[in-house]
Amino acid sequence: MKQDLEKIKDKIEKLRGEIEYHNRRYYIDAMPEISDYEYDLLMKDLIELEEKYPSLKTPDSPTQRVGGAPLDEFKTVIHKKQMLSLDNTYSPDELIEFDNRIKKITEKVTYVAELKIDGVAVALHYENFILKTGATRGDGIKGDDITQNIKTIRTVPLKIKTNEKKFSDIEVRGEVYLSKKQLDIINQERESKGEPLFANTRNAAAGSLRLLDPKEVSKRKLNVFVYSFEDAVKYGIKTQFEALKILEKLGFAVNPNVKLCEKIEEVIEFCNEWEKKRNDLPYSIDGMVIKVNEFEKQEILGVTSKSPRWAISYKFKAEQAKTKLNNILVQVGRQGTLTPVAELEPVKLAGTIVKRATLHNQEEIERKDIRIGDWVIIEKAGEIIPEVIRSLKEERTGNEKIFKMPDKCPVCGSDVTKDEGGVIIRCDNLQCRAQLEGRILHFAERDAMNIEGLGKALVHQLVEKRMVDDYGDIYFLDIFKLASLERMGQKSSENLLNQIKESKKRDLDNLIYALGIRNVGKHTAEILVDNFSSLYDLMKAKKEDLLKIKEIGDIVANSIIDFFKRKDTEKVIEKLKKAGVNFNKSKSKIIKNILGGKVFIFTGELKNYSRQEAANIVKSSGGRVVSAISKNIDFVVVGENPGSKYEKAKKLNLKIIDEQEFLNLIKKS
Ligand code: IVH
Repeated sequence: MKQDLEKIKDKIEKLRGEIEYHNRRYYIDAMPEISDYEYDLLMKDLIELEEKYPSLKTPDSPTQRVGGAPLDEFKTVIHKKQMLSLDNTYSPDELIEFDNRIKKITEKVTYVAELKIDGVAVALHYENFILKTGATRGDGIKGDDITQNIKTIRTVPLKIKTNEKKFSDIEVRGEVYLSKKQLDIINQERESKGEPLFANTRNAAAGSLRLLDPKEVSKRKLNVFVYSFEDAVKYGIKTQFEALKILEKLGFAVNPNVKLCEKIEEVIEFCNEWEKKRNDLPYSIDGMVIKVNEFEKQEILGVTSKSPRWAISYKFKAEQAKTKLNNILVQVGRQGTLTPVAELEPVKLAGTIVKRATLHNQEEIERKDIRIGDWVIIEKAGEIIPEVIRSLKEERTGNEKIFKMPDKCPVCGSDVTKDEGGVIIRCDNLQCRAQLEGRILHFAERDAMNIEGLGKALVHQLVEKRMVDDYGDIYFLDIFKLASLERMGQKSSENLLNQIKESKKRDLDNLIYALGIRNVGKHTAEILVDNFSSLYDLMKAKKEDLLKIKEIGDIVANSIIDFFKRKDTEKVIEKLKKAGVNFNKSKSKIIKNILGGKVFIFTGELKNYSRQEAANIVKSSGGRVVSAISKNIDFVVVGENPGSKYEKAKKLNLKIIDEQEFLNLIKKS
């Protein structure tokens, strides 16, 4: 028996070794040897063995990278030492000034020049050689505990690769980033699902680290470069250059493009070299970081309130190109916003061929005096979509044409509206195909009609195959239509139809929110239901009636009135009515109106109730529960290990109560 266990142990260790080997091949060497599928099979074998023999599980097993249930929110971590940021320089002259400032304070310094990786700063703590926490920078003093997400990054060692006892407890800092190729893959997928694209690798990395479900984070294939060994002097390390070498030896991914420089001129040369080569890298950099190499000298130089005096960043100039603007198209976004986009004579910029650039809005076009047919300068400042910076008026021939934004939506032809400031132009038509996916997804959201099976991929197909013209048509889908769609069998279609049927019973506030009236969120929908007892009542309301309600102002009142005046609204309401969707306020919902509309938010774990139970108690006592902190909250209920909401609540001076005080409130009658 014991021998058997030994054999299993060997097998497990072999699998772990293989998986870590392939992690390195994929993430560090960028030379994968096996397919994702084969990799998943290895992982599956290991998970199965560890499940069967729990005594053989270890905290550094690669299976730990994909474990964990989705979180409700992140806990707050207080950084042992503030996470500083850097002052920026933009020219060689400014680097020389930096060198002069340093020389005034201390002599004989050398510099380390590193690439400035365009990602998200993180701090990693190891205890007893094992990764204990991973945290974001936050405001520098405290950040979010994103340990679960950090563990999914295959190049973050779960265990430090050494037996040297002195390195058992350390903190390192670095940059989590996403490769350019991976951003392309993610954006292609987002485009096919009709989701908004990430503008650059930094936003994508930040967005990925903020996800609450580690399984989703794992799919993003994030990466890391570690650049700092905290309190290195305590471990007998004397310089930054040495620290980088040791970090590498301990198993961390350290960027290889580092240079130890004797003089600032060498630094400048290295910066110029990388400014030219930056587009050849598989990840984005937005400049260089120059650090005084000797820790002893760093100590002498010290820090200001936000940044160290011993380091500086050198930002690259945004890359520009000259090209001809052939035409201006108008795109309709998923929220109905009309954006003018320049069609360009294709030109090479920052390593890619650019054919389009954004012009933002009519005001910008006028301010920059950009005309169709102009020669223009375009610029890419780390974003995927470049921007038209200016027109070259001296090159005009007289044939250039002035552009005006249309007053009809280019997708559906209905009249557009301008926002209060007159800058943002929108199409509000409920049947506009450019916005339909977004509107249906919103309609199906949990706080709206709660049709869980109506996910992005499915809605995309429904819209593309023209099975729906608006969200009202959802109620007229049948099993034949649904089962004809990709990845929809008989069973899943039946389930979805059931959910759709169930949604007809949703409460009036859910329906009002689901309608997608501009400026009417969940909270406003609840307030409306406090004041109107059916959808018809609300539809009949005059502006004066709406303005009498305490929390409703001019903008919201106008949005509601405009919404119900529209022909497309009339059509969709008719469909909902025909389907038998509930239009009335439910009377049974409130058992005892103890809380009288008071707004609650929860953070941390309660001893006696799950989050859902506590929310139900609040609702059935006539209160409301929200998930985002704002000044409109009456009570913040704080349980064990509260997250970032607690900090924000304190900042906003909200009333904070503990579980016992919450129970006392509920009991009062
Ligand atoms: S050192 C106190 N080195 O740039 C100095 N930072 O504004 C701490 N960054 O927040 C930073 N690559 O997120 C350092 N090689 C590198 C870096 C780097 C990227 C980021 C980091 C930091 C920001 C500085």
